[in-house]
Amino acid sequence: MGSSFLLFTRLMIMLATAAFTALARLNRNGLNIEVFALSNWKQVLLDPQNALSSWDKNAVDPCNWIHITCSSEQSVTRIDLPNLQLSGVLSPLIGDLSNLQYFMLQNNNFSGVIPPNFENLTNIGSIDLSNNSFTGVIPDIFGKMASLTYLRLNNNSLTGPFPSSLATIGLDFLDLSFNNLSGYIPKMSFGNFDIEGNPLLCGLKINRDCPGDPPLPLSLSSNSQKKQQDPDVYLGQLRKYCFRELQFATDNFDSKNILGKGGFGYVYKGTLPDGALVAVKRLKEEGINGGELQFQMEVEMISLAVHRNLLRLKGFCMTSTERLLVYPYMLNGSVASRLRDSNCGKPVLDWPTRKHIALGSARGLLYLHEHCDPKIIHRDVKAANILLDEDFEAVVGDFGLAKLLDHRDSHVTTVVRGTVGHIAPEYLSSGQSSEKTDVFGFGILLLELITGQRAFDFGRLSHNKDVMLLDWVKQLQLEKRLDPLVDSDLKSNYNPVELEEMVQVALLCTQVFPTDRPKMSEVVRMLEGDGLAERWEEWQKVETKRNCEAQQMPRGYDHLVEDSFLDLEAMELSGPR
Ligand SMILES: *[C@@H]1O[C@H](CO)[C@@H](O)[C@H](O)[C@H]1NC(C)=O
Ligand SMILES: *[C@@H]1O[C@H](CO)[C@@H](O)[C@H](O)[C@H]1NC(C)=O
Ligand SMILES: *[C@@H]1O[C@H](CO)[C@@H](O)[C@H](O)[C@H]1NC(C)=O
Ligand SMILES: *[C@@H]1O[C@H](CO)[C@@H](O)[C@H](O)[C@H]1NC(C)=O
Ligand SMILES: *[C@@H]1O[C@H](CO)[C@@H](O)[C@H](O)[C@H]1NC(C)=O
Ligand SMILES: *[C@@H]1O[C@H](CO)[C@@H](O)[C@H](O)[C@H]1NC(C)=O
Repeated sequence: MGSSFLLFTRLMIMLATAAFTALARLNRNGLNIEVFALSNWKQVLLDPQNALSSWDKNAVDPCNWIHITCSSEQSVTRIDLPNLQLSGVLSPLIGDLSNLQYFMLQNNNFSGVIPPNFENLTNIGSIDLSNNSFTGVIPDIFGKMASLTYLRLNNNSLTGPFPSSLATIGLDFLDLSFNNLSGYIPKMSFGNFDIEGNPLLCGLKINRDCPGDPPLPLSLSSNSQKKQQDPDVYLGQLRKYCFRELQFATDNFDSKNILGKGGFGYVYKGTLPDGALVAVKRLKEEGINGGELQFQMEVEMISLAVHRNLLRLKGFCMTSTERLLVYPYMLNGSVASRLRDSNCGKPVLDWPTRKHIALGSARGLLYLHEHCDPKIIHRDVKAANILLDEDFEAVVGDFGLAKLLDHRDSHVTTVVRGTVGHIAPEYLSSGQSSEKTDVFGFGILLLELITGQRAFDFGRLSHNKDVMLLDWVKQLQLEKRLDPLVDSDLKSNYNPVELEEMVQVALLCTQVFPTDRPKMSEVVRMLEGDGLAERWEEWQKVETKRNCEAQQMPRGYDHLVEDSFLDLEAMELSGPR
């Protein structure tokens, strides 16, 4: 009887201790962690109104303190300190308040940086630090705050880039206005945000072009942290899907979901469980010639090419027999479909839009050539591979794939992948590709935008025109009659001076010898109105000389298209036809 009573008492003490420890977490010195964190913070604050006088560092818990709210488990859920003339810095110890849901410090004079270890506030829903004097960069931690819906950092002196994780977590409200942020505004996955009053920000959202190119939003540190977090699911921003997920998203690859078919396989429209629409590219079996590790490395490389004019790779999937790539679905389809479906009720692409598409595509290619390491050669630039996002901005799709499916050598291929009428002569005849191969393809893309016609079309024969778009254009250019080139859908709504310039850039890009063609950086400059006249003058001299020698010269490339090794299938893309 006595011993069992003793046992009972011991058990009760153990339970009570366990419960107490669970409710109010103690630190190594037996102090309540939350009391310790908050009273430590108080020590570094200037509090002219004595607003924090109830914050007693000897309290058992902070739940009776003014401006503090606790849960029923005596753990802090709210800190409300607005309009109290407080100044001083934030304490990293606040990161220990693991149940904190509201952190409201607006309209004070807090200063210093936002501590990176705030990432440990995993239950936080609302943060308001507005109208203070915070400085430093916005740490890239908010992507880890799974419950965060409301974030105000406006009216501080924050600097540095717009953190990419803020663009994708889907907040209900985000205010970064009146700081000194700089650089590129990433594409936002939600609408309710305010960024005005940051004169150094640029990007489509505020209609201010970025000088040069945006920084990669994927920093190596956030990449490795995410890897630690869940090695199977995330590789940086790239998601690794399992086959079942994609089967489910596409109704088991139902043929009604096919968006396109091409040299790489079929593309399906899919819907992920979170409602996101995706384009799933299922690579043909013969495309699977590298090992899984190699595939993953290539895919990661592609995913590092982040630019507003490039189609972002969302994720991938691989099994022993399957390789799939997942892209966001582009609601406005491809440029090719827009050029050709104008009589299906969709509005005609007007001239300024065509110019904007040309410039956007050129910037995307420039980024692949000159800002990616290793550089990425597209090898199939054409209107069908340029998609239009919801803002009608051009995004280049399908880059990196040629390399993904061709492991032998990065510059010489045995199978030419490309599309007749778009392929540069040197690539067609020798399989040799370079950035200049893409410049050629871009020139043809310009002609597609001007004419609305296919690059290679037997139909033109019946109108006594050349099968090859380029040859027809050259002919009219010689005759100084450019107007017949213009897409009849445009009627007379185009600018003849700009037309002439665009034709000139196209002809510079499609010169027979790769070394004669401009680099993409020069193309971008010429499209922006800089340096075209000089290059064009040079071209005319060279061309006149060549025309005199024409009898001995092989025709540019048109004799080559009958070569039988050509992979005639067009590669297709990630948007509605
Ligand atoms: C900003 O904070 C100051 C106190 O630091 C306050 O006087 C002012 O009214 C606040 N501004 C707004 C617009 O709330
Ligand atoms: C706010 O704090 C900064 C230094 O942290 C100080 O220079 C400034 O005068 C303070 N502003 C007000 C209104 O107290
Ligand atoms: C977040 O909390 C974990 C576990 O308590 C700790 O190991 C980590 O260092 C904290 N992160 C930061 C940035 O302080
Ligand atoms: C933020 O700054 C702008 C411009 O100075 C001002 O109009 C606005 O009232 C400020 N808002 C807050 C909350 O301080
Ligand atoms: C904003 O930052 C730039 C440098 O990044 C600096 O030159 C400029 O003075 C800052 N502007 C303000 C208002 O702090
Ligand atoms: C592009 O797609 C968006 C979203 O579907 C739509 O609202 C917009 O009208 C489209 N733009 C054009 C020019 O068709």
